[in-house]
Amino acid sequence: MAKPKTVFTCQSCGFKSPRWQGQCPECQTWHSFVEETEVQPTPGMRQQAPPVSTMRLNEIPDVENYRYPSRFAELDRVLGGGIVPGSVILLGGEPGIGKSTLLLQLLGALPQLPALYASGEESLTQIKLRANRLDLSLEHIHFANTTDTAAIVSRLKADKPKIAIIDSIQTLQSETLTGAAGSVGQIRESASALIEIAKQEEIAIVIVGHVTKSGEIAGPKVLEHMVDVVLYLEGDRLQHYRVLRANKNRFGDISEVGLFEMKTTGLQAISDPGNMFVASSEATSGAVRTITLEGSRPLLVELQALTVPSNFGYPKRTTSGLPLNRLQLLIAVLIRRASLRLHEQDVYASIVGGLSLSESALDLALCLSISSSLLDQRFPSDMIALGEISLSGALLPTPRTDLRIQEAKRLGFTRALVPQSEYDKIVRSQKGFSLIAVRSISEALAKLNWLPN
Ligand SMILES: Nc1ncnc2c1ncn2[C@@H]1O[C@H](COP(=O)(O)OP(=O)(O)OP(=O)(O)O)[C@@H](O)[C@H]1O
Ligand SMILES: [Mg+2]
Repeated sequence: MAKPKTVFTCQSCGFKSPRWQGQCPECQTWHSFVEETEVQPTPGMRQQAPPVSTMRLNEIPDVENYRYPSRFAELDRVLGGGIVPGSVILLGGEPGIGKSTLLLQLLGALPQLPALYASGEESLTQIKLRANRLDLSLEHIHFANTTDTAAIVSRLKADKPKIAIIDSIQTLQSETLTGAAGSVGQIRESASALIEIAKQEEIAIVIVGHVTKSGEIAGPKVLEHMVDVVLYLEGDRLQHYRVLRANKNRFGDISEVGLFEMKTTGLQAISDPGNMFVASSEATSGAVRTITLEGSRPLLVELQALTVPSNFGYPKRTTSGLPLNRLQLLIAVLIRRASLRLHEQDVYASIVGGLSLSESALDLALCLSISSSLLDQRFPSDMIALGEISLSGALLPTPRTDLRIQEAKRLGFTRALVPQSEYDKIVRSQKGFSLIAVRSISEALAKLNWLPN
């Protein structure tokens, strides 16, 4: 075998360089290079390889039991109906958000499947404490406390369980590589060993991944390409709500989300979110309700904004749960198209309940919440606002307005501000519910009687 060569690998993006560098030329991260040993393939190996064997579709055996449905409906919804045998799922999320809890509950919801739970983060006693607290029956599961990738792979080969949980990829270490656990090389090596055994033995493997400060899964970007499904568990740790989202799914739609509430007994599915993401039923200055779509599910949310005169020449804009660049763009639209004096105002905007949303159908609600705070007007508590706003201040259509209106009606709302084009499309006078058509943001403010005379 050729002599091992050392390379310097960027811990942020996986870029390799023969020399140490202060800044990565690929992703511009500073001080991210770590020395790793790389084994060179033997020259001439390629010519000796036998031709790869191939098969026609009709020769490939059909699979029965294409998915393992769990009794955890919200998780199945996100996965597209259950876990596919032999698939590799990566679950990312902030520290303490509930990743280990979710996976232990998942095993509890799959009582028929032989399983392995390998944790490099918690001792067996700690896992038992959690299992007791969650009141799960986990007799069929083998637990291990290890950080050794090769030992886990051997155990999987020997026992051939149907599902395995690895908590977490950042704690694993492979002997064939130097470099600390959690380094790009170690993560890539361990992940590829796990993926290989998953495909060989048809073991579904769920791998927990830590996230970086910016919210991405720590390690090489290629990790997300290697696995079949990438899930994120999100939410505000200080609040109880958690959202499970798929960023990638080779076997299903990625638009569906799972909604949970964190309780002492673990994550509980929220099948009817109703008024959960609303602060109070009273109308307050700066608060506007709207209906967003999470996958195919309409969800009532409250947007809040606060405007205060800025102390500095450069006004501050801050968001929580909403994209900052969208807020800045909408403030510019309000200044130019509705003549609101926001130049010297700090603007803070947030979504109640710790959700993170980026749907453009929230534009009108966000603009109205800013206007409500600035003009000190209250948005009616029985009304919702729907619509995307263009740079010209015009209201653009929102997808599935009918579904949103239906949900608003179900929750007791009686009025909705909707874009003119949507008003023309859906039934105009719905019993006990009135639709107010608006063409632009300034028309919406005029219809609410908020514009100063
Ligand atoms: N006794 C308890 N009662 C209620 N909730 C609890 C209790 N103990 C823990 N929790 C909740 O569980 C969360 C921790 O969950 P868990 O350990 O599954 O998170 P994690 O995402 O695996 O974290 P890490 O990244 O640190 O491994 C806590 O933040 C808390 O919200
Ligand atoms: Mg954990």
